[in-house]
Amino acid sequence: MSGPTAGRKVVVIGQGYVGLPVAVRAAEVGFDVVGFDLDERKVAGLVAGRSHVEDISDERLAALIAAGTYRASLDPADLAGFEVAVVSVPTPLTDGAPDLSYIEDAGSILAPHLSEGCCVILESTTYPGTTEEVFAPVLEAGSGLRGGADFRLGYSPERIDPGNPAWRLENTPKVVSGVDAASLAAVQGFFDHLVEKTVPVSGCKEAELTKLLENTFRHVNIALVNELAMFAHELDMDVWEAIDAASTKPFGYMRFVPGPGVGGHCLPIDPSYLSWRVRRSLGHTFRFVELANDVNEHMPDYVVRRVMEHLNDRELAVRGQRVLLLGMAYKRNTGDARETPSAPIARQLRELGAEVIAVDPHVADRWLPDGVQGAELTAEVLASAAIVVLLVDHDAFDLDLVTEHAAAILDCRHVLRGDQVEHL
Ligand SMILES: NC(=O)c1ccc[n+]([C@@H]2O[C@H](COP(=O)([O-])OP(=O)(O)OC[C@H]3O[C@@H](n4cnc5c(N)ncnc54)[C@H](O)[C@@H]3O)[C@@H](O)[C@H]2O)c1
Repeated sequence: MSGPTAGRKVVVIGQGYVGLPVAVRAAEVGFDVVGFDLDERKVAGLVAGRSHVEDISDERLAALIAAGTYRASLDPADLAGFEVAVVSVPTPLTDGAPDLSYIEDAGSILAPHLSEGCCVILESTTYPGTTEEVFAPVLEAGSGLRGGADFRLGYSPERIDPGNPAWRLENTPKVVSGVDAASLAAVQGFFDHLVEKTVPVSGCKEAELTKLLENTFRHVNIALVNELAMFAHELDMDVWEAIDAASTKPFGYMRFVPGPGVGGHCLPIDPSYLSWRVRRSLGHTFRFVELANDVNEHMPDYVVRRVMEHLNDRELAVRGQRVLLLGMAYKRNTGDARETPSAPIARQLRELGAEVIAVDPHVADRWLPDGVQGAELTAEVLASAAIVVLLVDHDAFDLDLVTEHAAAILDCRHVLRGDQVEHL
């Protein structure tokens, strides 16, 4: 897959947070790219030059559409004649177990369009063994070709960090793998066009495990500081000061900070893919993952408890109070509200009888939990709440306005100062 890119067809199945940036980058380096998705609304937007992913601007997309190097499509016929296919479809947990149906469906749609020598790359996060044991059989059954022998097949995990301007697709090293040496060479050759550095590993399982290791590492370390934050509060110690001090150690320590819980498509889900695989194959419990799930899943309950304690100290019941939540996305500067811890916090406060108002300039009102009213961040709205809970520190928030007008604040991100501010 080395050599010039012009006129060579790449198809990217799934135009979400992962697939769209890959498709756009491939088009920018000169490939002829089709971004395929089943979501009519998403495809209509992309065809009209509207990006639904913050890191891809409408201008960037429109330039590629005008140049004819990128087009979005709902029509499987547009997959015909591809040289490289990248598959980046969802891998959720359904009833607590990995749900690979999207990968299987994408494989079935793609399979009739495989040809001798083409290259298929799975990018969805999944448990080790998926590429060879689940994806390959679907491609082979639908194409009559064999992975490795007839077409190239590999796995390359995505490390995209939405909203991170420093580490983007092109400057983040990309792990690549293949089912055999020729497949690895094809996968690496393709991504060498897209990113500054590729990191080959010996097999697909190792590449699949790499992604789960990275996310489990983060999940476990976030759980560690979350649990520490709860104990430190009880013991009247400033956990944030300890974290800042520990972060000055130049070796053997990596900074993680507490928060209201984990969200998004990765941390609440990926480690469970790993523990599911370990339990199914070995019969063992992956204790670190279970423990981290337990701590992180209960952080929203802890935030609600802190709100109750605060109101209690003021001799107020939660019922009837107005609580203002700042930030409904799962992380800063993104509109992604999947698995956001802000949702269970809002729901629990509502169940306790609070009037819950939410401000998030990145999240449309239709994604707010039932009964939660969307609002603008104004002095009046801030002053009208019994307590303001800062859940996500989006750059778009005017934090000075918040400290100036809020009567009481629970700051879950440790970015505010003042007599009326409590930290998580
Ligand atoms: N979002 C992240 O930050 C991130 C980072 C690294 C890895 N991942 C992983 O990448 C994968 C994709 O995640 P995402 O965040 O892009 O999800 P997403 O929901 O944003 O996008 C997936 C897209 O796939 C489409 N789709 C589903 N089935 C399809 C099919 N059969 N054919 C064509 N399109 C189909 C959906 O309509 C959707 O637009 C997941 O496995 C996820 O765990 C996500």
